[in-house]
Amino acid sequence: MGKREPYEPSHRISKLDDSPTRVFKKIGPKTIDFSIGQPDFGTPDHVKEAKIKAIRSDLDSRYAPIEGLPKLRSLIAEDYNEVYGLKLTEKNVFITTSGSMALSLLASSLYEPGDKVVTPNPGFFAYKGHIVLAGASQIPFRISEDKGFRMDVDDFHTLCRTVDPEYLVINSPSNPTGAVQPRSELEEIVDICREHKVGIISDEVYDTMIYNGGKHTCLRELSKDAIVVNSFSKRYGMCGDRMGFIIGTEEQLKAVKRVQTYRNVCAATEPQYGGIAAFEEKELTKKIQAEHRELYQKRRNLTVDGLRDMGMSCHMPEGAFYAFPRYPSTMMSKDFEALLLKEADVNVVAGRGFGRYGEGHIRISYATSEENIKEGLTRMKIFLENLH
Ligand SMILES: Cc1ncc(COP(=O)(O)O)c(C=O)c1O
Repeated sequence: MGKREPYEPSHRISKLDDSPTRVFKKIGPKTIDFSIGQPDFGTPDHVKEAKIKAIRSDLDSRYAPIEGLPKLRSLIAEDYNEVYGLKLTEKNVFITTSGSMALSLLASSLYEPGDKVVTPNPGFFAYKGHIVLAGASQIPFRISEDKGFRMDVDDFHTLCRTVDPEYLVINSPSNPTGAVQPRSELEEIVDICREHKVGIISDEVYDTMIYNGGKHTCLRELSKDAIVVNSFSKRYGMCGDRMGFIIGTEEQLKAVKRVQTYRNVCAATEPQYGGIAAFEEKELTKKIQAEHRELYQKRRNLTVDGLRDMGMSCHMPEGAFYAFPRYPSTMMSKDFEALLLKEADVNVVAGRGFGRYGEGHIRISYATSEENIKEGLTRMKIFLENLH
């Protein structure tokens, strides 16, 4: 075999899927867009002010420490200790340039080529990419609607006995289903992981969005070795700031630091000051989050009622801001998505983009106004009536 052509993308790249939510589509000014996974409330004012102040004081002209500003890290540790009864210090917190980068740093610092990493399917599309880029193998774990889109504990136990994976990625509340895994089942999953020496990465970026007064379980409460990924994007409406964090043991975070040194050096300085304000003025922040949660819950009910009313089966999501209905047609979800946009000017995401077991579903983000939700649902209902 001769030398390969220069500039040809690496073999790994060919295994990566495009983002199901960032594909170029013809969206007009009247399109109702249910595709975007970002809060529509903007960044809270006190967080914005802190960012502006950091820029004015020229703090932004400097690099932050590799692991993030010590004050931010210790505020996060304190908050986790208070909310989840943990005993973290700043040494257990690592600031990253997003939840996505947190997943990427962890993949590079933990996975060996050939490792088997179990991810929920349907699940957040990017898990596979991080696994592939690290040379590891993704093991899709089927999540079914008839089990409320929760991981089935017995099936997971069987998978551990047969496939013997190295890692499990958990995501509760889930993107794209909105499902929340109950604490008792998480405890069982942690026990199984312990028995089979499976490391856990718990993606908890929707932890502040659980409805009907439900309380989030942080995996770190159940296992002192489980690694938690979180983000400022959904918690604080800071998607554009690209900032996230990892909770881990000092040893785990030392490995992450080595990777961060080469990949980013550090997260941007200005949003870290915004993050400090979010945690420092915590009463205000939590009040704002509670108000948003209440609005999301109203929108969720409106969305699910409307979808069921037009003949879709739809699990009532317990968290996040997504509904994942099954549509009443044998059409492939990519085709359904395209036709719905063309005929009804409603933009959703095909379930297939979240893995093969997402086929037959669409993801609807209800992080948009009630007015948009009502209009979008009306259009979808007419679309479905004309489809039969
Ligand atoms: C489940 C899940 N994890 C991680 C992320 C990454 O978020 P970010 O990179 O904005 O921090 C997202 C974003 O949509 C997500 O849905």
